[in-house]
Amino acid sequence: MINNHKTAFELVASPVGRQQRGFLSLPNDNIVKTIGVATLLCLVCSIIVAVSATVLKPKQVENKLLDKKTNILLVAGLTDGSKSVDERFAKIESIVIDMNSGMVQQDMDGNAYDQRKASRDPERSTVLPREQDVAVIKRRANLANVYLFKEEDRLKKIILPIKGYGLWSTMYGFIALESDAKTVSGITFYEHGETPGLGGEIENKKWQAGWQGKQVVDESGEVALEVIKGSITDATSDPEYKVDGLAGATLTSKGVSNTIAFWLGANGFGPYLATLRQQGSEATKQDDTAMETEATLEETVNTLIDQDESIVDQSTSEPDSDGIL
Ligand SMILES: Cc1cc2nc3c(=O)[nH]c(=O)nc-3n(C[C@H](O)[C@H](O)[C@H](O)COP(=O)(O)O)c2cc1C
Repeated sequence: MINNHKTAFELVASPVGRQQRGFLSLPNDNIVKTIGVATLLCLVCSIIVAVSATVLKPKQVENKLLDKKTNILLVAGLTDGSKSVDERFAKIESIVIDMNSGMVQQDMDGNAYDQRKASRDPERSTVLPREQDVAVIKRRANLANVYLFKEEDRLKKIILPIKGYGLWSTMYGFIALESDAKTVSGITFYEHGETPGLGGEIENKKWQAGWQGKQVVDESGEVALEVIKGSITDATSDPEYKVDGLAGATLTSKGVSNTIAFWLGANGFGPYLATLRQQGSEATKQDDTAMETEATLEETVNTLIDQDESIVDQSTSEPDSDGIL
């Protein structure tokens, strides 16, 4: 007890103790005490926030990557819930392409390349002149991520990242095309700041389903796909190039049309898609020639068999030298 008293006395008697006692004994409405307590509180809070941000950063990065993979799988139609995201994503080939030439960068790992980061880097991106910048994105990365879904080495889906300005925000998404590089297989938007219930309906799965089977380019190769005002009816001309508009969100709808026009056009993935279409039509031609050759061969073989059979028939029906059959 005496010891405790001594300790308390010593504490209070010390210079720091005197200072603390002086500070704490100040009335609560004292300006120095108010500012002091507020500063201390701010300091403690900022330390907690800074530590949390640092500790949680790797988890955030991991979750963002998982979300990106989930969206790519979703748009590719790989939604088998019995397998993990990573298991399903193993079927996707990540490549990097040069936006100007459309050439695949064979020496680059698609999983390690971050197009969004590159588009903010002046050394790895290009400022778009106003007349080309229909999606209002200001800069475009020189290299882009492309995701391919293949089965037994045959290309099934081409998944392309897209982004463009709506009414309030830049909308980020993916569009998947069938192997012909012309037909839409799916679309998804995973990040935007449009109004929920209006422009935010770009996330609506029912609206997104309306994109399936739509044609991106017309016969001349120009991007023709667009979101219209209102809904498609029997009277709508060329419905294969049109998607229902979002009710009460004409400006967001217009932003989506502009996004498609840019990314599937000449300043976006156009050169790469043109190469794929060319390769596709050459492969079809080769398939046709192979089928024709196969048919000719079959015909020749059948003719030879027929000839052979008639020779056998003749030899068996010919009388021998004695005139006995
Ligand atoms: C609070 C508020 C939020 C809005 N959010 C959007 C939006 O996200 N996207 C959009 O295109 N229009 C939005 N609008 C409506 C636009 O201002 C504009 O009226 C609309 O795009 C015109 O489309 P409509 O012709 O289909 O009505 C919003 C309007 C209000 C008042």
